Amino acid sequence: MNHRRLLITGGAGFIGTNFVYHWLQNHPGDRVVVLDALTYAGNRANLASLETQENFRFVQGDIGDRLLIDQLLSQEKIDTIAHFAAESHVDRSILQPGAFIQTNVVGTFTLLEAFRQHWEQQKQPSEYRFLHVSTDEVYGSLNPTDTPFTETTPYAPNSPYSASKAGSDHLVRAYYHTYNLPTIITNCSNNYGSYQFPEKLIPLMCINILQGKPLPIYGDGKNVRDWLYVGDHCSALDIVINQGIPGETYNIGGDNEVENIKLVEMLCTLMDELAPELPVSPSSKLITFVKDRLGHDRRYAIDASKITNQLGWQPSVTVEQGLRLTVKWYLSHFEWWQALLSEDYQAYYQQNYQK
Ligand code: NAD
Ligand code: DAU
Repeated sequence: MNHRRLLITGGAGFIGTNFVYHWLQNHPGDRVVVLDALTYAGNRANLASLETQENFRFVQGDIGDRLLIDQLLSQEKIDTIAHFAAESHVDRSILQPGAFIQTNVVGTFTLLEAFRQHWEQQKQPSEYRFLHVSTDEVYGSLNPTDTPFTETTPYAPNSPYSASKAGSDHLVRAYYHTYNLPTIITNCSNNYGSYQFPEKLIPLMCINILQGKPLPIYGDGKNVRDWLYVGDHCSALDIVINQGIPGETYNIGGDNEVENIKLVEMLCTLMDELAPELPVSPSSKLITFVKDRLGHDRRYAIDASKITNQLGWQPSVTVEQGLRLTVKWYLSHFEWWQALLSEDYQAYYQQNYQK
């Protein structure tokens, strides 16, 4: 397709922001419309430098607002949806699951219905795409010797978050099989990098080190995650939109399995090296083991050989390089993360960590 016209939902969140910059840099002739409800996790200021660009538009709104979606699809002649909008944090889904069902399941359904009608009105063009950005958590938890998740691993979600994402994946799959709507699903492992909200492990540890606050490690710290630098996720999604086959699922991962405690120790070492001065040094003195997350999945690992073999994608950033880039980003963006430490954030922190 020559020039795409994209609707990017959740484009003011962590991965969405990185993807918007990635897309406009690599496809400067395309039109990008961001739709974001600006929940606690969305930050319009992330995209401020694009607001004067003619091929960019920001719209504040909910993916569950059918009238708004219909209007945007037809006014903007959208041919591609990159769907990132979601409630994304497992701990919040344990505290308050309702919003996860509403946005992740009902919101995705609303978006699918609106896109189906729009696509049918245009006589079902084959080059239209609905990219559903999902997670490896839908596959459940692995034992230490299990082989990594493939696209055919049965779904076994364990948290309200992963169950809501699994529900949305099933709807997206059904819209391809029932209506032939050109949908594609990606299931990705843990991302990290710039603009990540400091409720997730890596940014939370970075800013707690900078503030001299305890570094809360759940359980024994031996849970394993497969870390992927966010720029590599964006390049995978770009390839999937342009070369992926409708109806297919692609697993995306970094082939970087690390135990939580090891990852936090790496962050402490980097901070000790790169931060000009720290309230507590060495920062590893702040490591504190706390009560485990309910239903905590032990291990995730992705087998990304399908996207590598079929579409030629592979990650380009090692975890050592990516963590260094990330620590440097948080060190040079004090104002960005300090603005997020609102009363709501403190209340969430109290509730989650004093459980
Ligand atoms: P995030 O929480 O940082 O951002 C989510 C964005 O969606 C925010 O800007 C928020 O305002 C917006 N949003 C929430 N509800 C909305 C609604 N009802 N209508 C419109 N906008 C709404 O999340 P993220 O980490 O950037 O994740 C993006 C997507 O990628 C999610 O679908 C998530 O499930 C998936 N994913 C994330 C990871 C990860 O490691 N972060 C890994 C794999 C998949
Ligand atoms: O696997 C992909 C998923 O990765 C995404 O779908 C989710 O949106 C994203 O939030 C992430 O989920 P996790 O639960 O794996 O990420 P989180 O950063 O919350 O936690 C990573 C690991 O660190 C996990 O084992 C829990 C642990 N942890 C987390 C926090 C916030 C701690 O030990 N202490 C903490 O304070």
